[in-house]
Amino acid sequence: MTNLSHADLDAQTVTKAYARWAPVYDLVFGPVFERGREAAIAAAERVGGRILEVGVGTGISLPHYSRNCRLCGVDISAPMLRKAQERVVEHGLTNVEGLWVMDAEHLSFPDNSFDVVVAQYVVTTVPNPEATLDEFARVLKPGGEIILVSRVGAEAGLRRALEHWFQPAARKLGWRTEFSFERYAAWAGRTQGVGLIERRAMPPLGHFSLIRFGKDGGAGTARPDLSTPAYPTARAS
Ligand SMILES: C[S@@+](CC[C@H](N)C(=O)[O-])C[C@H]1O[C@@H](n2cnc3c(N)ncnc32)[C@H](O)[C@@H]1O
Repeated sequence: MTNLSHADLDAQTVTKAYARWAPVYDLVFGPVFERGREAAIAAAERVGGRILEVGVGTGISLPHYSRNCRLCGVDISAPMLRKAQERVVEHGLTNVEGLWVMDAEHLSFPDNSFDVVVAQYVVTTVPNPEATLDEFARVLKPGGEIILVSRVGAEAGLRRALEHWFQPAARKLGWRTEFSFERYAAWAGRTQGVGLIERRAMPPLGHFSLIRFGKDGGAGTARPDLSTPAYPTARAS
């Protein structure tokens, strides 16, 4: 049996892993995740307005959004964000409001700040996915959407066993292989004002999904502790 205390993620391991990935990330993960990113961007543009990309990484998606969308990006990895900053300059992306080093679990934005929160290939890389989803819901405006592209682990069978076996090695690379859709469903079930809009299988091999949640105009989902700073200050550059 795998000892999950050694297999699960912590922020330091993830930060170290993405500092190593930064120089080669686009080469390794550019084409393989392209379809998922296209689907997420298309869904985000249907809502439009002010969009937060969490785990924006090297900013690989940023040039592909309509220039009518206002974009903010955050990532825990400064080396990844430096690449994103270079991309913003290279493409003249004047619709990017800012890029900040920030932990997805503690977003320094006020409640109801964004029309859309996008996180592509991110939720399975954070130590506490449910706390991260709570933050997404908090900073999302009523009527907005959370749009994820994420790996969904198998519920049973050989793939489930392989994912379990591979998890300790995956941790060193900065992600989880095990993460069932049940966890998303359970989170949405207990989060006031949030509902699942869509789940769609994505390549490679349908092991990933586009997952969309809506936040209704009602009660909202604010956490009781709102003592985070009023606005981010740590810029990537
Ligand atoms: C697999 S990469 C995805 C990058 C990009 N979204 C894409 O489509 O390729 C995961 C990204 O999430 C970032 N990340 C991991 N944990 C994070 C956290 N707790 N807060 C913010 N970003 C995080 C990593 O630094 C990395 O840039």
